[in-house]
Amino acid sequence: MHICVIGSGYVGLVTASVFSDLGNDVICVDSSEKRVETLLSGECPIYEPRLPELLDRNRREGRLQFTTSTPFGVAPSEIVFICVGTPSLTNGQTDLSQVESAARDIANSLNGYKIIVNKSTVPVGTGDFVRRVIEEHRPNGKNFDVVSNPEFLREGQAVRDTLQPDRIVIGASSEKAANRMRELYRPLDCPVLVTDICSAEIIKYASNAFLATKISFINAVANLCEESGADVKAVAKGMGSDIRIGPHFLEAGLGYGGSCFPKDVDSLIHTSVELGIPFNILQQVAEENAVRVPRLAKRIIKRLGDDSGNSLKNKTIAILGLSFKPDTDDMREAKSIELCGLLLKAGAHIRAYDPVATDNARTILGEDGVTYCKSAYDAAEGADAAVFVTEWREFIQLDLHRLREALRQPIMFDGRNIYSPGEVSAAGIEYHCIGRGVFPPGGNP
Ligand code: UDX
Repeated sequence: MHICVIGSGYVGLVTASVFSDLGNDVICVDSSEKRVETLLSGECPIYEPRLPELLDRNRREGRLQFTTSTPFGVAPSEIVFICVGTPSLTNGQTDLSQVESAARDIANSLNGYKIIVNKSTVPVGTGDFVRRVIEEHRPNGKNFDVVSNPEFLREGQAVRDTLQPDRIVIGASSEKAANRMRELYRPLDCPVLVTDICSAEIIKYASNAFLATKISFINAVANLCEESGADVKAVAKGMGSDIRIGPHFLEAGLGYGGSCFPKDVDSLIHTSVELGIPFNILQQVAEENAVRVPRLAKRIIKRLGDDSGNSLKNKTIAILGLSFKPDTDDMREAKSIELCGLLLKAGAHIRAYDPVATDNARTILGEDGVTYCKSAYDAAEGADAAVFVTEWREFIQLDLHRLREALRQPIMFDGRNIYSPGEVSAAGIEYHCIGRGVFPPGGNP
């Protein structure tokens, strides 16, 4: 099939590269000349495992093109995906200006029947909005259908999630469009759910909000565990063994970040208020998420601060992991930003390390009070505590004895419960984690 993808961010690039890899002819349109130049030169502008190989192969084999021209992309295409950004406004509302502008450009480029597919995460009713914008701007008589086909890809495993999704949701108002979309997804072996457009739009938000709820729920359980002496890992395992609950998204920690969950939760809260049926549970989910980092910062300051318990003056803290989660250099809503801010405010010096996100982190955290380090051991050198913020795989097998030797004080705060208390304690390090109490250094000092 001939496909056009508008937008070359995470969703657009992964969608374009996977569909071209499945043998379709894909033209990816982006309004940024710089972005298109980067892609044309064969470079992959984002860190995402497997994506550079897919882009490179399909570009070289001529199935994947890049352009700044919407008419060039739309004219030969039967299906046009809208994959542009939908950021949050300060009141939680979703900013649809990029969707509107993409719809207008598509309308002006229509030269025959097209299926216009919203893949960007958009509030319920946006399918209708896109239809109205296109109707207003299309050349007379040009026919089209609007479809909602939300993405569920996770950064860090976006290619895998696109090739092996749990389900594909197609919200369509015409049988013809639904059938062509089914045909497009035929090579993927997974359930396809066809619904009306509004239901598809809500499925996306409700799924992300439910996952965010699971995370805030287990974090609230972790607070209970900390106060009562229970172990949140054991509790999560016990809960997750119930098939109705399931084991996923029950990792207690510093809460959810990234480009989706925080903004999707806010957007659903906003939509619910607008519709006059406030989604109060979600308000609590967001509130629990907002206190995760301050809660850890407070523990760090209490343990390391001066007599008043407030100041980290003359203290150095190693921050390990800066990206919002492993396998990405994405710093959007990364917990490291808030934590570093609070520790710097308390007077600490930060020694920061991340396997891939350091350059992005530097543009946000700056250089004032922060030293960027080459490895976890380097970051720990002379630090009064090591604080794990992101559970990168390379941290799992760290030599904890070597870490202890690098630290000025053998103290660890594990914001993602990467380690078992026994192993940290046995390495002679005092271990503070989430929902599992505090463990004094045990053996091999
Ligand atoms: C998410 C959704 O999973 C995906 O379906 C959607 O389309 C885009 O948003 P992503 O933001 O890439 O994907 O990351 P995800 O792996 O879902 O994690 C989101 C956040 O939740 C991260 O900050 C992660 O650290 C946190 N998280 C996740 C937890 O704190 N505990 C968990 O158990 C799982």
